[in-house]
Amino acid sequence: MRVVSVVGARPQFVKLAPVSEAMAILGVDHVIVNTGQHYDPALSSVFFDGLSIPPADVDLGVGSGSHGEQTGEMLAKLEAALGELAPDWVLLYGDTNSTLAGAVAAVKMHLPVAHVEAGLRSRNRRMPEEHNRVLTDHAADLLLAPTELAVANLAAEGLGDRTVNTGDVMVDVCLRVRDRVLANPAPRLTEEEYVLATVHRAENTDDPERLDAVIEGLASIDAPVILLAHPRLIQRAKDGGVSLERPGLQVRTPLGYRETVQAVMEAQGVVTDSGGLQKECFILGTPAVTVRTETEWVETLAGGWNILCPELAGIGELAVRPRPEALHTAPFGEGDAATRVVTTLMEWQR
Ligand code: UD1
Repeated sequence: MRVVSVVGARPQFVKLAPVSEAMAILGVDHVIVNTGQHYDPALSSVFFDGLSIPPADVDLGVGSGSHGEQTGEMLAKLEAALGELAPDWVLLYGDTNSTLAGAVAAVKMHLPVAHVEAGLRSRNRRMPEEHNRVLTDHAADLLLAPTELAVANLAAEGLGDRTVNTGDVMVDVCLRVRDRVLANPAPRLTEEEYVLATVHRAENTDDPERLDAVIEGLASIDAPVILLAHPRLIQRAKDGGVSLERPGLQVRTPLGYRETVQAVMEAQGVVTDSGGLQKECFILGTPAVTVRTETEWVETLAGGWNILCPELAGIGELAVRPRPEALHTAPFGEGDAATRVVTTLMEWQR
């Protein structure tokens, strides 16, 4: 069985790590196609190296652009690459423009498509990711859902007969890396108690007024804040004339995966608009504040572990609130999702 994984953005490299390992263990002919959506080493090669992912077999080198330019160029290049590779499955991950381009290219070529992290819904149609997920799910032949709620979302859209709950592959990699950190921690980011922050979503970065309010909210937190700045944030702040230099705010470059996991484990709290980080906080037991009106990872809200704070009201105290009571639940699975992804692909191969 030949599987082509299409990846391109930072969170997809993280999800690829456990899947690519399971493919190797189970003897699958696994080909990695990297669209090049993320090209800065801090968003790309640092994950391949740090998570021991084999180098991509095909690099499309697409890079940044408007949604149409970026997705269109990926589509044209993927069509050529997939034609040559003739896979039994095209495996897509998450909700980025690389995911959507892979779905559209593959279905038009009658290649079977499977979607890892299928069934997530924010119901916010202003998010590019929501369109990418919904369109990919409806194009795919096999929906690899990470949670029971995702399964229910897909069933409600008439897609139940092609859905399998595999658990979340991000749990696999997160737990493994957590154990490595516990066994051999690197020096802390800072000796002080700190709050870790990331902001990169279009809804928070593209309008200068909104971005200014978000940064001001971070600066109001009652603890030093370490802001791991995604290049999009830096770019939009520069374009919009929004200064990131505020008292109490330390702006740093993004970290690799292991370093991020350790930084989350050691933080007093995390403020973010990233889907992956909300989940990592939940798994690692760090309280999170999400700067969005909704989350597709609603399970993280249980017990107050994640709190939505779109208007930033009271964020100063929320970000340093005490840890809620432990839940002893595993809504995202137990850390065996990647193996289940690969065995499901084998079982469903036509
Ligand atoms: C993309 C995904 C988002 C995901 C995020 C993870 C889409 C629509 N969005 O957002 O779902 O959560 O990745 O990080 O696919 N840039 C660089 N260097 C890079 C990549 C980007 O400087 O290596 C800058 C460029 O100014 C670029 C901007 O970031 O225009 C946005 O990049 P883009 O790939 O469009 O989306 P992300 O914001 O990274």
